[in-house]
Amino acid sequence: MSPRRHRILSGVQPSGKLHLGNYFGAIRQHIALQDEGDCFFFIADYHALTTIQDRRQLAENVRGVALDYLALGLDPERTAFFRQSDIPEVTELAWILSTVTGTGLLERAHSYKDKLARGLTASAGLFYYPVLMAADILIYRSNLVPVGQDQIQHIEMTRDMAGSFNQVYGRVFPLPESRLDRAPTVPGTDGKKMSKSYGNTIEIFAEGSALKNSVMRIVTDSTPVEAPKDPDQDNLFALYSLFASDDEKETLAERYRAGGLGYGEVKKMLIGKIDAYFAPARARRKDLEKHPSVVEAALRKGAEKARAEAGETMRLVREATGLR
Ligand code: TRP
Repeated sequence: MSPRRHRILSGVQPSGKLHLGNYFGAIRQHIALQDEGDCFFFIADYHALTTIQDRRQLAENVRGVALDYLALGLDPERTAFFRQSDIPEVTELAWILSTVTGTGLLERAHSYKDKLARGLTASAGLFYYPVLMAADILIYRSNLVPVGQDQIQHIEMTRDMAGSFNQVYGRVFPLPESRLDRAPTVPGTDGKKMSKSYGNTIEIFAEGSALKNSVMRIVTDSTPVEAPKDPDQDNLFALYSLFASDDEKETLAERYRAGGLGYGEVKKMLIGKIDAYFAPARARRKDLEKHPSVVEAALRKGAEKARAEAGETMRLVREATGLR
């Protein structure tokens, strides 16, 4: 194989406003990985069609995610950042992979099983979702896929599909590894895992009263102000810890244990931390919003690089399979 840098790929669904759980669970890691290899990050708009069927909303979400990532430090000079649908070859590869994939494998996918378990009917697209995802990964012959826990099964399925293809047609695809972030758990305002579907999020780009309202919603216990409190049992403390230095954490933990500290004060401190941490990204985002052509140019440039790679892989795939 030609010597090349470790290739890192991940996709993000354009599912709406990003929150602290997305940031500490995935985005921060994506941004950091730009120093570790050749990165390909894309906005999974084809996948989004399995849930968003409103053209305006899809366009708005895609625009939003692009702004969010660029504002948070994705560097389009180093990383190929693109829209999935700018590389339509990926659907061709998905088709080819589906012919070496058993339906039993797809029937075991959590996303599909969960949907059926909730009494909903799944579209064929949702059933096929893991095949498209495998194609996303394999078309760039990626080595490493940083994802959250909920996506691990998809990476295993991708390895299965790559293995089947290679076995039938000869080795075209490296078997990608997943990389699970050692992400801290980010509790939502109700103490459950922060997730859009629970309605318990704190958005990264919310400011002023919108931010204040979500922080004020954080549920705390009813220990009176004077009483000592256990920082390790408190969501608010867990959220504060995401932003604080070890010293700051220790200082606050001592104040919890000493008693006399009210949760209202900690909420104010948390708002200050969130504001300070995301201030530069918010300023960049506002600036980018005024310059949509800069965002578009970044995505085009990413698509060009991705498309060249995808074209090369498809040439190998066509040759291996006997297509022309
Ligand atoms: N399924 C992923 C999610 O919901 C998004 C995604 C699509 C993806 N294709 C991918 C992630 C390829 C990693 C690699 O988060």
